[in-house]
Parts: sequence; structure tokens; C-alpha cells
Amino acid sequence: MPVVYAAGMEMITVAPEAFAGRVVELIRAAAAAPLTLGLSTGRTPVPVYAALAAAGVVFAPGSFLFAPDEYVAPDPSHPGTNASFFARHWPAPPLPPVAVPRCDTADADAEMQRFCAEIDRRGGIDLLLLGIGENGHICFNEPGTPPDAPCRAALLTEQTRAQARSLWQEPPVWGMTLGIPQIMAARHAVLLATGEAKRAVLTAALRGPVGAEVPASYLQRHPRLTVITDLTV
Ligand code: GLP
Repeated sequence: MPVVYAAGMEMITVAPEAFAGRVVELIRAAAAAPLTLGLSTGRTPVPVYAALAAAGVVFAPGSFLFAPDEYVAPDPSHPGTNASFFARHWPAPPLPPVAVPRCDTADADAEMQRFCAEIDRRGGIDLLLLGIGENGHICFNEPGTPPDAPCRAALLTEQTRAQARSLWQEPPVWGMTLGIPQIMAARHAVLLATGEAKRAVLTAALRGPVGAEVPASYLQRHPRLTVITDLTV
């Protein structure tokens, strides 16, 4: 029986060794015009970012690159912050730098609203690269997040904090994140998932009921979603 996905969803299944190259080509095509590009963190996109500069991808002048989430933490240079992630994994220069919400803000709600207003001022998100947490989160929209949850400070689940322990002795309790409407308003959303550990949650996100239990399931309603994965779900 053919697998029926949501309207507007394109599924690209690749061999693990072809994953980074496939995502790089998608970014290369989009970067020919000025691009407002959201770049997720986590292990999944690391090979993509490593390959980008070597592949000679050039961003059109006027492009704006940003991280869609960050931890709330006092020290931006701590190895666990997303600011540090991009310092380690993003080849800038030659690529443009990635703007990251300020982790050491005194008011994370206000900081994330300011950050999202800046994205709006630039005409909204053209391309948004998303990962998926094993609990179904997208950015830091954790299970239980309603579909109208805005750009904000968000409490992290114990599962997400546990996953962060490789970089944090005591992972932050709060994160800052794009909201669900901002994710849904991206002109093109790209969900990246690799490795067996993501099979169950990717299946739930793409084929299960749409709802707060698995926030990534909201993407079934996205008007233009591309899934790039080495899994068959
Ligand atoms: C973190 C990030 C998400 C990311 C997710 C998946 O919690 N906030 O943006 O998508 O982890 O990470 P990984 O690719 O390491 O599984």
C-alpha cells in the first residue's frame, strides 16, 4: 500500500553517506537569492555544516542566518550554548555568521520576542532547517506545547535536559525558542532526522495524530515541508 503523507510534504530518503550532501545542495539552491535561513543545532546537522564551506556554497548578499533557539544560561561561551555550537561547527567566514538569541539575558521572553521581531523585519523565514528531539520537540517546543505558542522562554523537559548532559554538567532549566506559528510561517521548512533512534518519533511526527503530545506533528500541516532522512518511515 502506498504511504500517504500530508499534502505539501516531500519526503527525501537518502543513504546515510548521502545525507549531508543532499542538504547542502538544498541550501545551495536557496542561497542564490538573499535568504533568511534558520539553522538548528544538535548532532544531526553537524555534518551538513561541516560540508557547506568545502562545497563552495555562497550566500547572496543580504542573507540573514539565525539560530531558532538557545538555552537560557549565564555564560555564552559555555560549550553547551548554541552560540558555542555555531562557533565550533559553523564555518564563518567564509560563510556569513549565525545570529543567536542572547543566552545571558535577564528577560528571555523579551529577548526571544526581540529576536523574532528582527526576523519579521527582514521579511520572515525563507528556509528553516529543523531537527527533531527524541521526545518530538522542534526547536525548544516541548511536548505539551499548544499550536499557538509564540516566540518565548520555554521550560525544558527532563528528557531534553538529560540529552544535554554531554555538554552541561547541570543543563539549563529554560530555553528560548521560535514559537509554533513562526515555524509554520516559514516559507519552506526542512525536517532533518538521521539514525535509528529517531525512527519512532519521526513516524509519530509524520504519520501519527497532529497535536501537542508530539509538537513536530504540527509540521504535517505545514504548506511546504521537506523531510530529509536516512530512515524509511
Ligand atoms: C536540541 C535542539 C533542537 C534539535 C534537537 C535534536 O534540543 N534545541 O533544535 O533539533 O536537539 O538534536 P539531535 O540532532 O542532537 O538529536
